[in-house]
Amino acid sequence: MDERRFTEKDRWAEVDHWMALHLLPADPVLDDARAACRRAGLPPIEVSALTGALLGLLCNLVGARHILEIGTLGGYSAICMARALKPGGRLVTLEADPRHADVARANFARAELTRQIDMRVGAALDLLPGLVDEGHAFDLVFIDADKENSAAYADWAATLTRPGGLVVIDNVVREGRILHETSDDPALAGIRSLYAAMRMDRRFEAVAFQTVGARGWDGLMICRRL
Ligand code: SAH
Ligand code: DHB
Ligand code: MG
Repeated sequence: MDERRFTEKDRWAEVDHWMALHLLPADPVLDDARAACRRAGLPPIEVSALTGALLGLLCNLVGARHILEIGTLGGYSAICMARALKPGGRLVTLEADPRHADVARANFARAELTRQIDMRVGAALDLLPGLVDEGHAFDLVFIDADKENSAAYADWAATLTRPGGLVVIDNVVREGRILHETSDDPALAGIRSLYAAMRMDRRFEAVAFQTVGARGWDGLMICRRL
């Protein structure tokens, strides 16, 4: 086949697929969860298999017993992380859209993770103060919801994460559009203010890196709570 008919993005996806085939075990439960998201018409924006595995690895690294996710969608990333919980651990995940939450609930049941996952349906900014009142100290927080509120979520995460814990933030590159100072896209403005806030924030040691793969060109920020 003519090489030139493949776009750069196709090649990134192909390499992602190849790496996943070599490194990740066959996983019918996760495959089914992703398929259920597609059948339900959810936007195809859940993490890739490899990013899901990275989230699981980070949860293992911090010995996670207590995980928070902001933005559940159909529960793909939540399953990746909940599986890495220490025995008796729990993952709290926040989702604003009840339709997404229904799909996630069914996926959690099929993954036999209903006991480990506490999904709360509502706008995250309404739910986060309640988590503070409940006295949670999370080992890892994954922020992957509306990008407009990224800086606010990182601020809540600083309060809710134990020292040494991690805050992981998805979609911090958006095909390089974070460089566009004058963009009127509120999602981009949100990510840009996240960087501005992190630069000043003495509570975190923060890094970010760019990724290409099945989800195109984007990036992750990983912050350690000091
Ligand atoms: N983490 C998921 C993908 C999340 S997509 C995965 O990788 O599998 C982003 C999700 O955030 C969507 O389901 C969207 O409905 C949800 N969301 C958007 N705004 C929100 C808000 N204000 N509070 C909570 N969830 C929100
Ligand atoms: C979008 C959101 C995400 O969380 C993601 O991983 C990719 C895209 C979006 O809203 O476009
Ligand atoms: Mg995302």
